[in-house]
Amino acid sequence: MNHPRRNFIKISSAAAAWLGLAPSATASGVSMSEIEEILNEGSKGRPMDQASVINLKKNPISQVKVAMLGLGNRGTGQAQLVNALFPDKARITAICDVRKERIAPTLDKLKEAGQNPVVYTEDKNAWMEMCRRDDVDLVIICSPWDEHVPMAVYAMQQGKHVAVEVPPSMTLQGCWDLVNTAEQNQVNCMMLENVCYGDEELWVLNMVQNEVFGTLTYGEAAYIQNLREGLFQDEHYYNDWRIRYHLKQDGNLYPTHGLGPVAQYMGINRGDKFDHLVSMSSLQASLSEHSKTVESGNEFHDRSDFIHGDMNNTLVKTALGRTILIQHDVVTPRPYSRINAIAGTKGYHEGYPSRLAIVDKGHEWLDDAAVKEYQEKYRHPIWDKLKDGIAKHGGHGGMDFIQMYRLIDCLNNGWPLDMDVYDAAAWSCIVELSKISTELGSVPVKCPDFTRGAWEEKRHLGIFENI
Ligand SMILES: NC(=O)c1ccc[n+]([C@@H]2O[C@H](COP(=O)([O-])OP(=O)(O)OC[C@H]3O[C@@H](n4cnc5c(N)ncnc54)[C@H](O)[C@@H]3O)[C@@H](O)[C@H]2O)c1
Repeated sequence: MNHPRRNFIKISSAAAAWLGLAPSATASGVSMSEIEEILNEGSKGRPMDQASVINLKKNPISQVKVAMLGLGNRGTGQAQLVNALFPDKARITAICDVRKERIAPTLDKLKEAGQNPVVYTEDKNAWMEMCRRDDVDLVIICSPWDEHVPMAVYAMQQGKHVAVEVPPSMTLQGCWDLVNTAEQNQVNCMMLENVCYGDEELWVLNMVQNEVFGTLTYGEAAYIQNLREGLFQDEHYYNDWRIRYHLKQDGNLYPTHGLGPVAQYMGINRGDKFDHLVSMSSLQASLSEHSKTVESGNEFHDRSDFIHGDMNNTLVKTALGRTILIQHDVVTPRPYSRINAIAGTKGYHEGYPSRLAIVDKGHEWLDDAAVKEYQEKYRHPIWDKLKDGIAKHGGHGGMDFIQMYRLIDCLNNGWPLDMDVYDAAAWSCIVELSKISTELGSVPVKCPDFTRGAWEEKRHLGIFENI
């Protein structure tokens, strides 16, 4: 697609003047020239000493040796899913959490199953020693957001594959660091975006690929979940890392659960790419009001300095001209939703609850019997193939088990992983891009091309090729 050159904020002096900003103005202390530099990174070409990791094929690993890093709310469950794949497909050789009290719940279960991992704890750098172990092929990282990039980069530098919880990076620089390190070391860096394995999401994806929706035109995605109580609950998150983000940053903090599936529907990095975005946040009110109701000894009692708006709306335009609305709201008392909407010239799907409309069937939602026909015809076969494991191990309705199974199974077989480091970077970079746009009055911001031009090549997702 040929596009006229546009003066996006990379940050043009024209935009700065229009906004009433001096050209040297900053977004959270980062100068405009620094932002421009990092947004331009993709057009510079790949350094000589590294190669693309698209479709990375490695030697099969018959039993994947796994190190678990971070055993909090999420890591504890992820360790159980790897445990479910012991001994046929994987073995946990080491576990690490800086808090000693987080070790026992996982260690006891692993021992029950006949595993005996080495333990690293009580030292915030102990994970580095764990990453250097010879008996580790894969490091699964379930630490707080700011720790993801340094941990993943270091592990990859030791020649390990990494799987990182979402979002893999909160910064643009971090996205580039993940891409460059994976390329330099020719290892996998997969983001653990479990929602891409949902029954509904894989069904919709299969329909997209079979052209049920015709030409895709727009999508809507969200992370709407009321986390208020947990945010204020002391140590529900280690060192209260999650609520602290609401004190320091606006924009979309957590885009990938909603965006990941929509990006896969649209073939982002596989024929299309995010081109630019604009972002706008509502006022902040819920956390400051709620903070008055928590006990006075709570560090976050009666605070008025939360800067993260209650609802963030980000609009992305793709290179093929599609648009995506991404919402983020973790503070309003309202039901959970990822929206999961996709529109095309022949049909439309929207989640919460799942509804389907197809052009030649009138302009109402299809009735239950008609939807069932589509479900039976287009359900992804992995949901049947793994039905026993899903029933036994579950995890968000089964998507977590499928994700862990796929990650390990691909490594067992030497197949490329379902999501690569370019997906991790493209979906994560929304965090900082939406922050920049929001802080600078919703100006358009260019999305970097982490594939360095390879996005134009249409490629199938692994889960539709090797299962
Ligand atoms: N995909 C999903 O459905 C899903 C669900 C929940 C959380 N998450 C993600 O999982 C990640 C972790 O979230 P959480 O809720 O488990 O947080 P958490 O605070 O409960 O867990 C993080 C753990 O990391 C440990 N840790 C921190 N620094 C460490 C260090 N230097 N060395 C060793 N251990 C260290 C902490 O002690 C803690 O146990 C986040 O990225 C979050 O977004 C994803």
